[in-house]
Amino acid sequence: MTTMAVQNLVPLLVLIILRVFVKSSESVSPDNFSPTFPRRFLPYQGVRAAYWPSSIDFPASSIDTRYFTHIYYAFLHPEPDTYKLSVTEFDQTNIPEFINGLRYKHPQVKTLFSIGGGGNEPTVFATMAKNQRTRGVFINSTIQVARQYGFDGIDLDWEFPANKQDMANLALLYREWYEALVLDARIHRKPRLLLTSAVYYASRMLFLGDEPRSYPAEAIRKYLDWVSPMCFDYHGSWDNFTGVNAALYDPKSNISTYYGIGSWIQAGVPPEKLVMGLPLYGRTWELRDPNVHGIGAPAVGVGPGNEGTMNYKDVIEFNQKNNAKVVYDVVSVSYYSYVGDSWITYDDVWSIQKKVQFARSRALRGYFFWAVDKDKDWTISRQASNAWGH
Ligand SMILES: *[C@@H]1O[C@H](CO)[C@@H](O)[C@H](O)[C@H]1NC(C)=O
Ligand SMILES: *[C@@H]1O[C@H](CO)[C@@H](O)[C@H](O)[C@H]1NC(C)=O
Ligand SMILES: *[C@@H]1O[C@H](CO)[C@@H](O)[C@H](O)[C@H]1NC(C)=O
Repeated sequence: MTTMAVQNLVPLLVLIILRVFVKSSESVSPDNFSPTFPRRFLPYQGVRAAYWPSSIDFPASSIDTRYFTHIYYAFLHPEPDTYKLSVTEFDQTNIPEFINGLRYKHPQVKTLFSIGGGGNEPTVFATMAKNQRTRGVFINSTIQVARQYGFDGIDLDWEFPANKQDMANLALLYREWYEALVLDARIHRKPRLLLTSAVYYASRMLFLGDEPRSYPAEAIRKYLDWVSPMCFDYHGSWDNFTGVNAALYDPKSNISTYYGIGSWIQAGVPPEKLVMGLPLYGRTWELRDPNVHGIGAPAVGVGPGNEGTMNYKDVIEFNQKNNAKVVYDVVSVSYYSYVGDSWITYDDVWSIQKKVQFARSRALRGYFFWAVDKDKDWTISRQASNAWGH
């Protein structure tokens, strides 16, 4: 009787133990973490990246690499006639300084170079991507440059594919590029070069150009390590009213990071392939009337700074020097400041923390900054890194 009871108890005990185990492992996973993602994609080990504009006077060796996992050399360009990557004399000395400056201090930081950028000529990319031969020439030259200088990866920042045809060609480019990188790794018995791409803040381009068009989500999912939506430049002095550079939320429109990131996931790009953009700069206006200074106030042109932009460190200095009024906007999760007829939209420690927490809560791969030189004493970079969990 007693033995019987014990025998009957064993499966029950196993059940109880199993239940307790399942319960407790459930309770340790983060709220929004989908249990179907493989463990190695836990965002905790993710990407904390920044672009390094090569034209600036800011040695890569002075980057505080505690706060970054990946630094992008920005930018290289394809030659408009041959589509081979152009490495100018300036780059030939600058790239080794960049790579050695980082590698010496912090060998685990990965280096990539980015091709294109805001000032690029989009038609060069469009023509190159149109046929297989020129795509091949371009791809091979990028691999050659990456291996010659010892980069860990390659980034494409084509701003922007102009129509549906460009988007279809971009998908072919991603695929052939990835295949070439796999082949290259096999031949040289080296780790495959990373392939990433900076993209519009949303998966579908509604507000730029005439033709609505969507990024090739499936090719991105299959062939890229990640894409980096540029979640900034939502409003600027091109608008005749003040607005937020990088609103996390906007109840009145779809021009927000919340919408943009959601659109990528909805399009089929998994969260672990998304690295969310954060600005280390603000945008400025000249107010029409200094007494009307909210978000949406009439403006007549660019404010202080450099053609309507101002680096974070300069915003902080400007605010202090001019005793500007600083406002935290709860709705958009952003700051603005004003004094006289000057108006500035920007991010500071608190809003960056909220945005990084948003990226974490969506189980994204990570975040990146434009750009690494614009922080003030690493304040923002440190805050972001802490909020991410480092
Ligand atoms: C690119 O490189 C691959 C592998 O070395 C080669 O097979 C291919 O012909 C090259 N393509 C072009 C267009 O040069
Ligand atoms: C935002 O986008 C959704 C679809 O993604 C659309 O249904 C909605 O009308 C848009 N809202 C605005 C304010 O444009
Ligand atoms: C901005 O310009 C548009 C047309 O270009 C006009 O309709 C609108 O009233 C202007 N807004 C302000 C605040 O001046």
